Amino acid sequence: RHVYRIASIPGDGIGIEVTEAALEVLKAAVQKSGKYTIEATHIPWGTAFYKETGSYLPDDFRSTLKSYDAILFGAVGAPDVPDHISLWELLLKMRGPMQLYANVRPIRCFTKPRLDAEPAHLDWLLVRENSEGEYSGHGGRSHVDQNWEVATDTNVYTRHGIRRIMKFAFEAASKRPRKHLTVVSKSNALRYGLVLWDEVAKETAKDFPDVTWDKELVDAMTIRMVQKPWTIDTVVGTNLHIDILSDLAAALAGSIGIAPSANLDPERQNPSLFEPVHGSAFDIMGKGIANPIGAIWAAANMLEWLGEQESADAILNAIAHVCNEKKVTADMGGDLNTKQAAAAICEQLLK
Ligand code: NAD
Ligand code: IPM
Ligand code: MN
Repeated sequence: RHVYRIASIPGDGIGIEVTEAALEVLKAAVQKSGKYTIEATHIPWGTAFYKETGSYLPDDFRSTLKSYDAILFGAVGAPDVPDHISLWELLLKMRGPMQLYANVRPIRCFTKPRLDAEPAHLDWLLVRENSEGEYSGHGGRSHVDQNWEVATDTNVYTRHGIRRIMKFAFEAASKRPRKHLTVVSKSNALRYGLVLWDEVAKETAKDFPDVTWDKELVDAMTIRMVQKPWTIDTVVGTNLHIDILSDLAAALAGSIGIAPSANLDPERQNPSLFEPVHGSAFDIMGKGIANPIGAIWAAANMLEWLGEQESADAILNAIAHVCNEKKVTADMGGDLNTKQAAAAICEQLLK
């Protein structure tokens, strides 16, 4: 039986609670399949580690992670550490430098949409450029604390970076039943980077004649998501644009607690990282009530990436089933806690 080596990095807050739940479901998936096993190694990187050692990650983190087939991540962020430090020292240090450039955020509605639409209208695939753009890390502050202080965050777009994410998005769209891609942009105001973005989209479209595509400015895209969700299938956008749109999409489809995020290196030079879209949720951490579905769906996406499609499908079916039966947490109108919600999915999976 094949053994998959997984690096489990629960991180902080509810990240720890939902990762534990996802690992339980992975155990059930292994039991059900009988074709492979999973060896999950706990890696304690996060705010407690930072307070102990002075850094969120050891210097050799990339070589450590290279020995794993995939990474299961929870969330990072703590009330007593500035968010830009925790995020840039842990999660963003993995995404960009490890070239996990394709961030895939599927949206499905397992209950009632929070808008006037059918659940089937909210079946989207959001593709986020995950390595450059607004998150390039370039910028700085001059004359700190002076009246004439200037602060910049430089948006960096490269033809190579745009081309590879466009290719990925068109390919992803071509594999979906509707084969439609919406390219989100803001090329009216951002006249260099996002004009290049639109140009490369147009060029790439030529290689995918079976995919229909259109363009939408990001502000208008928020309207379209709410008012005409059935016109949307696959979406590609910049790092910051899809960050924002994916929270909106998840909320429209039910709850931020169900949304998964796959940070992929399509060239498979580095292990890909799977996580829920949500963060460490200061307001509910420690209460044991976080919705584990985002983390569990992320684990299913990890199995799919590793080639275990059957297990991935089985987990998705189990999620759909428990949602239908309202065996869910409070954010989705149920009354289960995190452990009970995960147990319901395991039970359904093993039926
Ligand atoms: P958040 O996603 O943590 O929480 C936003 C809201 O959604 C909160 O009301 C929270 O209770 C709710 N929520 C989130 N996940 C939920 C779940 N699984 N079940 C039920 N409710 C859930 O975003 P935030 O409040 O902006 O950020 C809190 C911290 O997390 C910050 O430090 C931020 O930087 C960090 N963050 C980390 C990640 C990540 O590690 N991937 C993502 C987003 C935010
Ligand atoms: C996400 C998060 C991160 C992002 C933050 C925490 C850096 O919001 O994964 O959506 O902006 O990418
Ligand atoms: Mn986000």
